[in-house]
Amino acid sequence: MEPRMRKPFILVILYIVFSIVKTSTSQPLSTNSRWIVDEESGRRVKLACLNWPSHLEAVVAEGLSKQPLDVISKRIGSMGFNCVRLTWPLFLATNDSLANTTVRQSLLGLGLNETVAGFRNNNPSLLDLSLIGAYQAVVSGLGANNVMVILDNHISKPGWCCSAFDGNGFFRDEYFSPDLWVKRLTRIATIFNGSSNVVGMSLRNELRGPKQSVSAWYRYMQAGAEGVHSANPNVLVILSGLNFDKDLSFLKKQPVSLTFAGKLVFEVHWYSFSDGGAWATGNPNQVCGTVVGNKMRETGFLLDQGWPLFVSEFGVDMRGDNVNDNRYFNCFLGWIAEYDLDWALWTLTGSYYLREGAIGKDETYGLLNWNWCDIRNPTFLDRITPLQSPFQGPGVTDLSGHYVIFHPFTGLCVQRKSLYEPLKLGPCSMSEAWSYTPQKILVIKGTYFCLQADGVGKPARLSILCTGSNSKWEMISDSKMHFSTKLAYGTQVCLDIDSGNNVVTNLCKCLSRDMCDPASQWYKLVNSTRSPTTPISRNPFSLILDLAVNYLVESLGGWFQKWYDAK
Ligand SMILES: *[C@@H]1O[C@H](CO)[C@@H](O)[C@H](O)[C@H]1NC(C)=O
Ligand SMILES: *[C@@H]1O[C@H](CO)[C@@H](O)[C@H](O)[C@H]1NC(C)=O
Ligand SMILES: *[C@@H]1O[C@H](CO)[C@@H](O)[C@H](O)[C@H]1NC(C)=O
Ligand SMILES: *[C@@H]1O[C@H](CO)[C@@H](O)[C@H](O)[C@H]1NC(C)=O
Ligand SMILES: *[C@@H]1O[C@H](CO)[C@@H](O)[C@H](O)[C@H]1NC(C)=O
Repeated sequence: MEPRMRKPFILVILYIVFSIVKTSTSQPLSTNSRWIVDEESGRRVKLACLNWPSHLEAVVAEGLSKQPLDVISKRIGSMGFNCVRLTWPLFLATNDSLANTTVRQSLLGLGLNETVAGFRNNNPSLLDLSLIGAYQAVVSGLGANNVMVILDNHISKPGWCCSAFDGNGFFRDEYFSPDLWVKRLTRIATIFNGSSNVVGMSLRNELRGPKQSVSAWYRYMQAGAEGVHSANPNVLVILSGLNFDKDLSFLKKQPVSLTFAGKLVFEVHWYSFSDGGAWATGNPNQVCGTVVGNKMRETGFLLDQGWPLFVSEFGVDMRGDNVNDNRYFNCFLGWIAEYDLDWALWTLTGSYYLREGAIGKDETYGLLNWNWCDIRNPTFLDRITPLQSPFQGPGVTDLSGHYVIFHPFTGLCVQRKSLYEPLKLGPCSMSEAWSYTPQKILVIKGTYFCLQADGVGKPARLSILCTGSNSKWEMISDSKMHFSTKLAYGTQVCLDIDSGNNVVTNLCKCLSRDMCDPASQWYKLVNSTRSPTTPISRNPFSLILDLAVNYLVESLGGWFQKWYDAK
């Protein structure tokens, strides 16, 4: 017994050591192939960020008249996010008299007297700081709460973004002098050279408009990247593509040429309206298949080339009644889980001081509600929670490679309570580890148990007799997100859920043409090397029974194998 006792003890010590390492700050960051890693330990750091706008007319981070900076910063961490993409307008760095304007002056100048009163209650110390000083204070307030920051040059002239004809879209537009941009970007990089929680700079948001050209992109983006890196060698340099940050396809032919390495990241944006109303009017399987195909061609190929891809904007109307958004989001979640991408949600904002002429405008895409106090839609947050931790990457090697079966519609993963209870959906952090064999059988790793269909409307179950057609699973439809199998009598069924989040099989729906929503039947196999963070709670009796059955099956299997080999 002696040596066996030692192992768990060592594991406990290791676990404690790793927990300490994990909670300490992890800057600066660099890249290792397609992964963003902690420069010192080499471990993957997955960016799970919120966009926090600070680029509108007031030029101060939104919400500070509603809640104290420290409360918002702590809230960001407690919701599981580790970073903020903090926007800023170029004028803040090119117009000294704007940078020197105080928050109070800026707000009063816009007629926002009530906002000033709100600041007096919630952030009195920020009110008489200059706008650049307030921006720095927000960065340090986030840093004090271990929240990393990516500085995002969102626009030139303060205001709501973005239109193709707003004079801010591309180099040489009315408000966008490339040389001044490089110079002042460099100045901002210098200001934050000493701020250890500033881990990256998005050089320019959503390049767009009639002046766009690939040659100007290389010329100025490379110059901006060099300027930033020379002033602040710690930050990741993050480059946006053309056409509202949807297109980086030109990089296939010609890579970016820089004098430094290990710091370059690309960013991409993806909203439902990027494809008009296609999700609401089309068949979601077909739209998902087409749009993901386009995404991979336009940006996703960079992963294969060994570059990190940061999905720095996505989001939905949190009220939940926008069909276009809802359908897009099921497909989006499958994609971002499959590639385990770094991301930033649009947006933290509950409401704006002033947006497009409206005072106190509500942000329906906001994670927080109008008063910046509560979460607008807790179900939404639950769905993105599993994506806040890495499934894989350098240093994420608690368990050997396996799959988790992710269900985007709920944000949950397939798990079992015991061998005899139906499979259920539960938190992905407690997911079962699956393998998918060349025979297309889904097996729980380290066991002989495979996923099997029993009938239409019946629970999917685990079995040890895995040779029948009802144990063979194919990913079908244009989205490839339906897990389909054939019952003994030939009926095709798909993995689904019932109202109690039990995993069941039903007739496959909306495979093509039909305009219905297949989301309850969408699943995704996600590569993972992460072990469950919490042991699955089982009653001791069923645990012992599990072990006994598994032992029996293994012995019988071994015996059968010997018998078979001997024959
Ligand atoms: C802005 O403030 C800085 C630092 O206090 C000062 O050097 C500069 O002259 C000011 N600029 C303007 C235009 O007021
Ligand atoms: C600079 O900022 C000041 C204060 O907001 C503003 O009055 C002025 O018009 C700005 N100058 C330019 C060139 O935009
Ligand atoms: C807003 O405050 C300014 C300065 O405190 C004052 O002059 C102005 O009348 C106020 N406006 C309104 C609408 O209350
Ligand atoms: C930036 O900070 C680093 C220390 O992290 C320092 O070595 C370097 O000289 C600074 N660069 C500039 C341009 O100030
Ligand atoms: C998942 O892992 C397999 C095996 O290592 C690999 O071939 C595949 O490309 C991975 N898929 C993704 C999306 O990373």
